[in-house]
Amino acid sequence: MNNAVAGFSKLSKKEKINWIAKEFFSNPEEAQNIIRNYWNSDEKLQQLHDEFIENTITNLYIPLGVAPNFLINGKYKTIPMAIEESSVVAAASKSAKYWATRGGFKATVIDTEKIGQVHFTFNGDAQKLEDLFHQIKPKFFSDTQSITKNMQQRGGGILDIQLKDKRNLLENYFQLHATFETRDSMGANFINSCLEQFAETLKEEAQNAGLEVQVIMSILSNYVPNCVVRAEVSCPIEDLTDKHITNPQDFADRFLQAVQIAEAEPFRAVTHNKGIMNGVDAVVLATGNDFRAVEAAVHAYASKNGQYSSLSHAKVENGIFTFWLEIPLALGTVGGLTSLHPLVKLCLEILQQPSAKELMEIVAVAGLAQNFAALRSLTTTGIQEGHMKMHLNNIINQFEASEEERHLIKTHFKKTAVSHSAVVEFIESLRK
Ligand code: MEV
Repeated sequence: MNNAVAGFSKLSKKEKINWIAKEFFSNPEEAQNIIRNYWNSDEKLQQLHDEFIENTITNLYIPLGVAPNFLINGKYKTIPMAIEESSVVAAASKSAKYWATRGGFKATVIDTEKIGQVHFTFNGDAQKLEDLFHQIKPKFFSDTQSITKNMQQRGGGILDIQLKDKRNLLENYFQLHATFETRDSMGANFINSCLEQFAETLKEEAQNAGLEVQVIMSILSNYVPNCVVRAEVSCPIEDLTDKHITNPQDFADRFLQAVQIAEAEPFRAVTHNKGIMNGVDAVVLATGNDFRAVEAAVHAYASKNGQYSSLSHAKVENGIFTFWLEIPLALGTVGGLTSLHPLVKLCLEILQQPSAKELMEIVAVAGLAQNFAALRSLTTTGIQEGHMKMHLNNIINQFEASEEERHLIKTHFKKTAVSHSAVVEFIESLRK
């Protein structure tokens, strides 16, 4: 079947849905019904969502949950999390409760510097380019004044601009490498606008000086190794004891070994870090931030020493167990979706209107909590016990169980290990 279509974006929403339903479904009406079922009944609200992107046909729901009892730097937080994976919010809540009685989480923002670059080529005397750069450096600041004025009032702006000779990487390749402080906004638009003006200034001034500069592109970097936050938990080894940890020394040893394996071995490190991102992404999404940017930055950071490695670390010193992580997070609590999406606004209110720095701390803590919960399960009961318990509802829903069946299944699997086949067998036995 040839499904190409011309001028699709110009069609009305109704026409787009008609086309999709006819083109891809043997029962177009059923497909249209599914699409419409997920529309918001409030037309204005639906229009808001329609206009976030092009060619919107409907909404894809992701559950929004909350993990309460997070004691962070001495204050309790309830953390909103948008995620579809069954066990994530339960694991976060469990970790929060566990650490609340052991001193809570400590989190510190180490730095908040963002980066942007103008990539260009220059095939001439590099010394002349360097001289020109130093001569016109103040002009990069003055030419962007209309863009930076508001940001400066909020205590942010352009921190520095450097000329970088990158000819060791590519022929004739140079950069303007700029650093920024964007306060409570993620700052992508601000940075990109500054960079595009830098590029204009560079082209103009180079031309005036008789130097031939070719600007290739101007764009922020999502790699933010100097926009970093640290989150930590610690307690005396003996305090690690709970109903699953009867021998705290043995638990601490196994836990440290699990972290060391993730530090040394990339296959394990990727899964270990994925567990951290279960927490990080869920809060990033709930607060209307760009989770693709965060993912890209975090995984690049995990490879900063030349090999992909664990983002978290653990140690025992003088009988004190300490577990921590350090991750780059470029987040905003103003601008973008934060002021547009009613649920994002609500989530920020649940978090008591955090600054971007406070949000960095909260997100890092959610990542650490998730990692702790995963490693605790992996090194004690194994992951499947808790995971499958949470997944039971999904299996029940798959089989469209009646209320009575649901009750019988849940009672049965309170005492029996949950596996997909065991649940299927039990449902079949009920239906015989
Ligand atoms: C599953 O989403 C995440 C884990 O695989 C993380 C880990 O292995 O550390 C449980």
